[in-house]
Amino acid sequence: MSEGAISPVQSNLLASLDALRTDFARRFEAATTEQVLREENAKILGKKGELTQILKQMGSVPGDQRKAIGERVNTLRKEVEDAFAARLAAIARAKREADLHAPPFDLTLPAREALPLGHRHPITRMREDLVTIFRSLGFAVHDGPDVDLEENNFTKLGFPPDHPAIDEQDSFWTTSGHVLRTHTSNVQVHAMMGQKPPFAFIAPGTCYRRDDDVTHSPMFHQIEGFLVDEKVTLTQLRGVLSEFAARLYGEGTKVRFRASYFPFVEPGAEVDVQCVFCKQPDGTNKGCNVCKHSGWIEILGCGMIDPRVFEACGIDSERYTGFAFGMGIERVAMLRYGIPDIRLLFENDPRFLAQF
Ligand code: DAH
Repeated sequence: MSEGAISPVQSNLLASLDALRTDFARRFEAATTEQVLREENAKILGKKGELTQILKQMGSVPGDQRKAIGERVNTLRKEVEDAFAARLAAIARAKREADLHAPPFDLTLPAREALPLGHRHPITRMREDLVTIFRSLGFAVHDGPDVDLEENNFTKLGFPPDHPAIDEQDSFWTTSGHVLRTHTSNVQVHAMMGQKPPFAFIAPGTCYRRDDDVTHSPMFHQIEGFLVDEKVTLTQLRGVLSEFAARLYGEGTKVRFRASYFPFVEPGAEVDVQCVFCKQPDGTNKGCNVCKHSGWIEILGCGMIDPRVFEACGIDSERYTGFAFGMGIERVAMLRYGIPDIRLLFENDPRFLAQF
């Protein structure tokens, strides 16, 4: 081959360069979005792009021709880059123009779809309401452990060793001999062992029993209340619980005490409140399914703290007296909202929870 003659490789290269030169501007012009433009650009300048492929063949161009062709490649690359930048700016301008001429965006329009808002669980709500009422009556909140010693859950509260509640059948025990508290009354023991009277506490918390039916769940919640001072009387207990019923169910709601037995109180009682579901304007009840036509609903146990409990917890039972009461939070919530099955409260089905 003579000096200066054009080889087939070169003529191929030159043909590809010419084809690209006539083509690229049209291709960029045809791209109307930034994404399409960038894709087109990558087809030319990218790692496997057309111009890159041409560059790769430069090695087989004879030395004396390489410079001239190299310059043409570089010029073309510069033209492609400039055209890309110009087209990119043009697309951005066109978009901005379109936005500016679009119908105005009305900020006052209502949101298209309101996000569904959640709320507190009915048990949490009930617990907070109960705590608020007792705090307003002067009780402070006291905490206690869910997993406790048998002593604190049973023995110090006066349960005899053969009491059925202590039985494996009725309570949950850990392998190390601890019990999942069967009631919040264990907080009485922790409070009495931790400080000197006078004090008045409430203790909301979780309890556990081997029970499972429409009104019992193996995990449930109680709120315990107790007050210890000199010269505390049953009348004061009655006063506190009557006021509690008035604040929870409305002024004038009647309460009644029925003698009952709990190992840690003497005397002990169960308290019924007047059924709010069938209460009549004149204060009488006409009877309904909720109260099983008695006009009364049992809501808690209570009594005067047994002197043996004081002694077991290191409090002078000659000097101090006190009262205690305890109620199931689920029970109060079921009565308040008319919930027929306790398990609904723990299944957390949104269709149920949305009703509160
Ligand atoms: N701890 C009892 C229970 O779980 C409820 C109770 C009854 C608590 C009488 C008391 C009380 O403080 O005086 O059934």
